[in-house]
Amino acid sequence: MKTQYFTASSLDGFIATEDDSLEWLFPLGDVNETSYPSFIADVGALAMGSSTYEWMLRHAEKVKAETGSAWPYTQPAWVFTTRTLKAIPGANITFVRGDVRPVHAAMRSAAGPKNIWIVGGGDLAGQFHDAGLLNEILVQVASVTLGKGKPLFPRRLTQPPLSLVSVRQVGTGFAELRYHVPDGRRKGGS
Ligand SMILES: NC(=O)c1ccc[n+]([C@@H]2O[C@H](COP(=O)([O-])OP(=O)(O)OC[C@H]3O[C@@H](n4cnc5c(N)ncnc54)[C@H](OP(=O)(O)O)[C@@H]3O)[C@@H](O)[C@H]2O)c1
Repeated sequence: MKTQYFTASSLDGFIATEDDSLEWLFPLGDVNETSYPSFIADVGALAMGSSTYEWMLRHAEKVKAETGSAWPYTQPAWVFTTRTLKAIPGANITFVRGDVRPVHAAMRSAAGPKNIWIVGGGDLAGQFHDAGLLNEILVQVASVTLGKGKPLFPRRLTQPPLSLVSVRQVGTGFAELRYHVPDGRRKGGS
């Protein structure tokens, strides 16, 4: 029953370009060779910010071609936004804003014994961390640099540091890193 931030990132710490492109990511490897299939099997609820959701809206055709559905998730999802965004027919999505703590409580009820996935972006994952609710960070470090873009995790985590749990190579395209977020960190260290 963990709350996990699972994402791919460039080597220099960006999860998308400044204009929200992920075109750099897809040529790097087959998702089925990564830990994603086993990860998603244990996810019971997920949350994302509006830029991530709007990427899904803009790429609905591509997502449908690859997964069979414009919205590939069977788990209930929460989308954080201060705006009114278009819904995706048939998708179990709740639009929310503000404090992540009541949303996390609702997600915890929905997920049952399974994990909660913070899809991104980095600041939303940071908001869950700030509230002491983030247990793990799983990063697929891609073999590219972007120079600038949307940040992986715009927070300063130094004392105590994250605890590196595992490292796994996926071909030449990715290094998968799994970090445990120490309890002391989750209680509000800087
Ligand atoms: N590399 C990967 O594996 C990966 C994974 C995930 C995402 N991505 C990509 O990375 C990019 C992430 O974009 P991003 O950094 O801008 O993050 P984001 O979290 O997707 O979107 C940020 C926006 O969400 C809304 N928001 C965030 N927290 C909120 C809160 N507490 N209450 C209300 N609204 C809130 C705000 O917009 P509004 O209020 O204006 O709606 C905010 O500007 C996207 O392009 C996405 O596709 C990549």
